[in-house]
Amino acid sequence: MQEKGMNRHLLSTKDLTPATIIEILDTARELGRITDGGMKKLPTLRGRTVVNLFFEDSTRTRLSFEAAAKRLSADVINFSAKGSSVSKGEGLKDTAQTLEAMGADLIVLRHGASGAAQRLADSGWVDAAIVNAGDGTHEHPTQALLDAYTIRSHFPECANDFSALNIGIVGDILHSRVARSNVFLLKALGAKVTLIAPPTLLPIGFESWPVNVSYHLDSVLGSLDAIMMLRIQSERMSELFFPSEREYARDFGLGNLRLKELKARAIIMHPGPMNRGMEISAASADSPRSVILDQVSNGILIRMAVLYLLLGGNPVPVEGVLV
Ligand code: CP
Repeated sequence: MQEKGMNRHLLSTKDLTPATIIEILDTARELGRITDGGMKKLPTLRGRTVVNLFFEDSTRTRLSFEAAAKRLSADVINFSAKGSSVSKGEGLKDTAQTLEAMGADLIVLRHGASGAAQRLADSGWVDAAIVNAGDGTHEHPTQALLDAYTIRSHFPECANDFSALNIGIVGDILHSRVARSNVFLLKALGAKVTLIAPPTLLPIGFESWPVNVSYHLDSVLGSLDAIMMLRIQSERMSELFFPSEREYARDFGLGNLRLKELKARAIIMHPGPMNRGMEISAASADSPRSVILDQVSNGILIRMAVLYLLLGGNPVPVEGVLV
């Protein structure tokens, strides 16, 4: 899904042109139409094997890749580092080669090290296609794709051109692979992106990103068409980045008062898992404006599209049936 090798791997949204992004979104939409039309399982990837190779915890990403692969009739092998021979010192190379020896055609990799997916793709250790399912604080491209799909479905008039949309990404940008992948993908589609965070939660080099930056949520809240709340990633924090959880929630949380200040059509997004009461109130997460569960459902379609395109499924006919 890289322009430089579009048919091999999906590692980063930086690699994707608008045309490739639209191809993935359109493929997901067509797959959705077909499965909504009653064909819950398609025979397209029968005989192919997808391995979910997860060195970090996951609920949404791992399960939706598994669901996506099964809906396309692929065989699925799930690997979780916990309880595996990783505890005996086995590394990424030997683990990946072991899984390829079991027949992997495509490896979905989540790893705590930034650059792990690129390393596996470049190493020549395996022939399988690699999909980055989150590498450290670097990228999470299928999350950004499912977010774009969700935005598009709520603003159908913006179909392939997001230039009329203001998207705010709020919170722990520093540790967020979701933010990085979204910045580059949303910009490729023409959206205006604003990062909203305390200075301590912005990464080194953010000045060169194609975004606006605000340190005051209230000053931009009413201009946003979509507001993406990010989880505070306490597990990646070894120092104090804000005075207290209460102050963070007051300054950067989407609480009940801010909910009323949103534009009439604005949507609330969160990649999950959420810290309710911290970056987002329960009322905001559960409000009719929230598309958080749509993001989860759309994740299956996007991952179906990615598996389908990388593993060389037959072209998706418009409003047709896959063979
Ligand atoms: N959004 C996301 O990556 O969630 P999981 O960590 O549950 O996969």
